[in-house]
Amino acid sequence: CHGTPKLYEVFDKDFFIGAAVNTSTIKSHDELLKHHFNSITAENEMKFENVHPAENKYTFDQADQIVAFANDQGKNIRGHTLVWHNQTPAWVFENEEGTNISRSMLLERMASHMESIIGRYKGKVYSWDVVNEAVSDKSGEFLRPSPWLKTIGEDYIAKAFEYARQIDPDTLLFYNDYNEFVPEKRDKIYRLVKSIVDKDIPIDGIGLQGHWNLEFPSIDLIRRGIEKYASLGLQLHITELDISVFSHDDKRTDVKQPSEDMLIRQAERYQEIFSLFKEYRDHLTSVTFWGVADDDTWLDNFPVRGRKNWPFLFDELHQPKQSFWEIVKLA
Ligand code: XIL
Repeated sequence: CHGTPKLYEVFDKDFFIGAAVNTSTIKSHDELLKHHFNSITAENEMKFENVHPAENKYTFDQADQIVAFANDQGKNIRGHTLVWHNQTPAWVFENEEGTNISRSMLLERMASHMESIIGRYKGKVYSWDVVNEAVSDKSGEFLRPSPWLKTIGEDYIAKAFEYARQIDPDTLLFYNDYNEFVPEKRDKIYRLVKSIVDKDIPIDGIGLQGHWNLEFPSIDLIRRGIEKYASLGLQLHITELDISVFSHDDKRTDVKQPSEDMLIRQAERYQEIFSLFKEYRDHLTSVTFWGVADDDTWLDNFPVRGRKNWPFLFDELHQPKQSFWEIVKLA
């Protein structure tokens, strides 16, 4: 990719363009990562079940490999994630007999988990997704009834942010969620973050995951959401961007290659979305893709198992797609 324009140069030098990586893609996708991205996120390797599989057992080997890659290459690191209902082992919420532990005990476990991982990467991870996906998708329900909520109560979120700030005064603290531009969910995320800000609990930003497709969310919805979130005066990061070539209702599993039509529409979408990002540069400080190139994406198994998808700017052979060229034109 030597003569190719660099993706991160589409923005100014203080803006971070990231990619989610794993211990394989830091090797198999290293050329693209080195050339186009100035930030990385570990796709799974810093999650609770990966680093802390049992009460007195920490396994940092894979996360360390990713941090070492970023340090060697001079890339920034977004930490993902500390308090979440998924990919968190059952032992966290139970005692040895398998019954639920008390509020104070769970708060202690939360704090010691955070101390270990935030502490280990202090000065290396510049921002953390402290709490992930706490808001409910169900109409009329505010917070997701996760084990964190059930055992600790609503203030588990505030506590997580307070612990994080005590452990590392310099890293940026984010609340991260998906369906972030669906109006009802958007308003709940806004309400949650506003309550944190109003109570003077430390928080620096909102992470908007960005798992989108060719139609949804519309540019108008993204614009309205960004304006609403930006009114809280925090930084905004797009944290997990991918644009599925399938619409919500398209459940076909036999598509072997993306059609010309899909790729053209995807390029238009990326162009519109990145133009909007540039408009809101004052609030938006980073965009991370949830992968690097079309040969490795979690969408191959989500939401339809075993269906290939092509959500990124680089194809399965790591060549820039039309989507890439539309974005670099915005530089
Ligand atoms: C996904 C990973 O990409 C998959 O490899 C894993 O099997 C499940 O998690 N929201 C998040 C991410 O915050 O951590 C998820 O990552 C995708 C949805």
